[in-house]
Amino acid sequence: MKNLDFKDKVVWITGASSGIGASIAMQLNTLGAKVIASARREEKLIALKFNCPNPDNMLLLPLDITNPLSIEKAIVKVQSLNGLDIVLHNAGISQKGLVIENEMEVDRKIMETNYFGTVALTKAIMPLYLKQGHGSFGVVSSFAGVMGIPGRSAYAASKHALHGFFESLKAEHMACKLHISFILPGFINTEITAKGLCGDGKPFGRVETSHRLGMTANACAHAIIKGIAKNKKRIVVGNIEVLLLSIHRISPSLGHLIIKSHPMRTMRNFKSKIHRIFNFKQDLVLEKQ
Ligand SMILES: NC(=O)c1ccc[n+]([C@@H]2O[C@H](COP(=O)([O-])OP(=O)(O)OC[C@H]3O[C@@H](n4cnc5c(N)ncnc54)[C@H](OP(=O)(O)O)[C@@H]3O)[C@@H](O)[C@H]2O)c1
Repeated sequence: MKNLDFKDKVVWITGASSGIGASIAMQLNTLGAKVIASARREEKLIALKFNCPNPDNMLLLPLDITNPLSIEKAIVKVQSLNGLDIVLHNAGISQKGLVIENEMEVDRKIMETNYFGTVALTKAIMPLYLKQGHGSFGVVSSFAGVMGIPGRSAYAASKHALHGFFESLKAEHMACKLHISFILPGFINTEITAKGLCGDGKPFGRVETSHRLGMTANACAHAIIKGIAKNKKRIVVGNIEVLLLSIHRISPSLGHLIIKSHPMRTMRNFKSKIHRIFNFKQDLVLEKQ
């Protein structure tokens, strides 16, 4: 990656044990950044460090963002370092189920991780940023952070809430060198949907097709890093589905109509029909020969 100056930048990534976070950690480590990698699964973090090109430049900091004590311990460690440039709030869990199916416990769990966990960590980091006079937050939101998605009410609410919180934080510190980037990934091929909670609180258990066929975590990480290097306020990442955001911006009701009609599935069915017709024609040609 050319022109991405992350050399010796200290970047703290939450949710670095898998998916997008692990890919960002690996790529930033390759670019010479000093990466602090956090998540709950320590064994995954150890494997990440073991596989990265500059293991001495990666600090593993196991962390559960829903646990105040865990945040307190992590902050003490980070304060002992030589400054902190960027925090990537990437840790998150998803959810799948209609509003009427979701037990309240599921709504609370999603908010506890995606919203309150991120807020608690931000509050703990802010004194450090104010003391050093600068700092950046990359907030991994989602398309669901700017539009409602059927079957994802709790997830969408938690991501929408992050926008409100960080926009207010930015407004409170207009004069400081506080930079905030909202990151909006589309369908990225990670375990997020498999681990997503169903209405009864149990994990969904398999990666949804739209995500399995989506952009790779590596490509997504690359786009996010490029956006952060350019200090972009909004980083939209994905394949064809990014069109949906533009449509929703122009006409929210048209956006919802499209999302309700399962556009990715419709497009896949259309493509496979074309494929079948094409193969059928080829078979006819071969039969004639
Ligand atoms: N994949 C997509 O299509 C997509 C689209 C839009 C937005 N996103 C967002 O991208 C972010 C990363 O997701 P992903 O797709 O890469 O899925 P993922 O592989 O499941 O990553 C989620 C990460 O969050 C961590 N995490 C969850 N709960 C945590 C907690 N209480 N404390 C600390 N870490 C916690 C997980 O680590 P541990 O389990 O080890 O703690 C894991 O590393 C999420 O915020 C997600 O909402 C993903």
